[in-house]
Amino acid sequence: MAETPPAPGQENQQTLSNLLQESRRFPPPPELAAEANVRAEAFAAADADRLGFWAEQAGRLRWERPWDTVLDWQPPFAKWFVGGKLNAAVNCVDRHVEAGRGDKVAYHWEGEPGDTRTITYAQLKDLVCQAANALEELGVTKGDRVAIYMPMIPETVVAMLACARIGAPHMVVFGGFSADALGSRLDDSDAKLVITADGGYRRGKPSGLKPAVDEALRSRPGVRNVLVVRRTGQDVEWTEGRDVWWHDVVERQGTEHAAPAHDAEDPLYIMYTSGTTAKPKGILHTTGGYLTQVSYTHWAVFDLKPETDVFWTAADIGWVTGHSYIVYGPLSNGATSVMYEGTPDTPHRGRFWEIVQKYGVTIAYMAPTAIRTFMKWGEDIPAQYDLSSLRVLGSVGEPINPEAYVWYRKNIGGDRVPVVDTWWQTETGAIMVSPLPGVTEAKPGAAMRPLPGISVDVVDDEAKSVPDGGGGFIVVREPWPSMLRGIWGDPKRYEETYWSRFEGLYFPGDGAKRDEDGDIWLLGRVDDVMLVSGHNISTTEVESALVAHAKVAEAAVVGATDPVTGQAIVAFVILRGEAGEGGEELVRELRDHVGSSLGPIAKPRQILVVPELPKTRSGKIMRRLLRDVAENRTLGDVSTLTDAKSIETLRDVFQGAS
Ligand code: WT7
Repeated sequence: MAETPPAPGQENQQTLSNLLQESRRFPPPPELAAEANVRAEAFAAADADRLGFWAEQAGRLRWERPWDTVLDWQPPFAKWFVGGKLNAAVNCVDRHVEAGRGDKVAYHWEGEPGDTRTITYAQLKDLVCQAANALEELGVTKGDRVAIYMPMIPETVVAMLACARIGAPHMVVFGGFSADALGSRLDDSDAKLVITADGGYRRGKPSGLKPAVDEALRSRPGVRNVLVVRRTGQDVEWTEGRDVWWHDVVERQGTEHAAPAHDAEDPLYIMYTSGTTAKPKGILHTTGGYLTQVSYTHWAVFDLKPETDVFWTAADIGWVTGHSYIVYGPLSNGATSVMYEGTPDTPHRGRFWEIVQKYGVTIAYMAPTAIRTFMKWGEDIPAQYDLSSLRVLGSVGEPINPEAYVWYRKNIGGDRVPVVDTWWQTETGAIMVSPLPGVTEAKPGAAMRPLPGISVDVVDDEAKSVPDGGGGFIVVREPWPSMLRGIWGDPKRYEETYWSRFEGLYFPGDGAKRDEDGDIWLLGRVDDVMLVSGHNISTTEVESALVAHAKVAEAAVVGATDPVTGQAIVAFVILRGEAGEGGEELVRELRDHVGSSLGPIAKPRQILVVPELPKTRSGKIMRRLLRDVAENRTLGDVSTLTDAKSIETLRDVFQGAS
């Protein structure tokens, strides 16, 4: 094997090696397949007439005026359903009430301390109308940006829909972010109003939100009002004339509000991507195309039966996952959802499974980081609950390691429930690549195929489609309805970030491979790919090989500069609860295990057993910081890290071992 580092400038010439072999297969359960919303024929029909397919899906919504043109494509700028008019809030709420489904539960809400609320579609309609009236009284008009900085409570959904009703784009900032992060997003979006709460419950304690708003607004007089929901009852500072209580202003409003019809391309919201290095990007989504694709994908990917399913996305509304699959997807489909305020281990590690049992959740959707945490805690915990109501499970946010997938299917899904690994991004707005539970013979760790109506490909460095068995980059070839319409205030950055890597193709920034059957596997962010002796090796594959070892719960792998091989693989692993301490013996065992599953080229130079890994607030491993540790550099920006101490602990472990 060549041990020479690549010549400078050659770094990107090699596409990803195809290392991981996975032979487990999970066909759809026959009963589910027989009644499935989507059949295999859907793919051919959508291929034959892509625009016709999306026009048909748009027909799921109520339009106040039909569109004239399905797609106006001036690359890279798309307009969907041009000339059409609709109201997103009416589609999510009013029309279900008008159709006689007002008594249906929209949300079973569960607060972290155990308080609960049940909200029907009829109640939600009244609340949204009241909030829309209140926003108008506060001077909010169409086009104004409204910031929402809230805990996971029903008022958060109400606030979003009230904005959508008026046509004031909302900009939700995750409640775990700091005053600085909130402030920079307020500046960039130029929001006039902030909706917040005194606080929310997290890890068994009330945690303040209003103080961060006060701090951010000290230097931002442009924000005229702060509308404050009382959630925890904690003391808050009050700025007279600026701050108003939700219960004072909203509750006295009328429960009717005449909803204007908005243009299909009117902005619905801005969502800032977590942005690990550069200034966060304000991703802009508009109304008609976005709602069409979230509605369709929620129905298709989860095989949603709105009459009987109880759907639960265990994510925060502060992320796009929450926007699309807690709010707009489920509500546009008239589904019943669960919404949970708190953390998975409060007050005990069985909380998620207790919720599934209590509400009879049939479809659950969560992130691999949560699944790996449950793996680490052990299978005895879910085994104490009745999870037999579940019929579809989903994963989102990162590549799911095959072993975590199989664990999830077995211990949560009773070895009978299909697991859909859904690939998408804040920018794509809705799911793009995923198995379909009634169609696909799933492979653990693979997102499989683009959904009907979506043109996704895997290409090499020269933008050529790779053959089966090849590796490279995932791209989108044709515009899709819920695609971002740009970066707020920065059209140039939009073109540079997504459309300049490959001429005419949307570049999401992820590595991918296409296996011998033509199925797609996501291999992590391109920035994380390692180059070892001239071979591009995916962090995801090495991590998955480590997690496949019986003693490993979670792994993070980075490439560190190496004089001989260009980069060398450094792995950080967390052991499973029952695995004990680690030690040299185990490290050797793990290196050999990676060598025998992926080949000698993928053997880590170093493996460190650590107690935790640095993650973003949305649960993604921050490999950039691990590279800093592995190369003994000072750390880069740590502001999006959940727990800044964790990385110092890792540095100590690393320096102790080197
Ligand atoms: C990035 C987007 C999708 C909503 C939540 C995250 C990674 C997401 C998968 C998956 C492999 C995945 C990608 C993507 N990602 N889902 N199923 N398999 N990777 O949204 O914060 O915009 O992150 O998350 O790297 O580009 P986001």
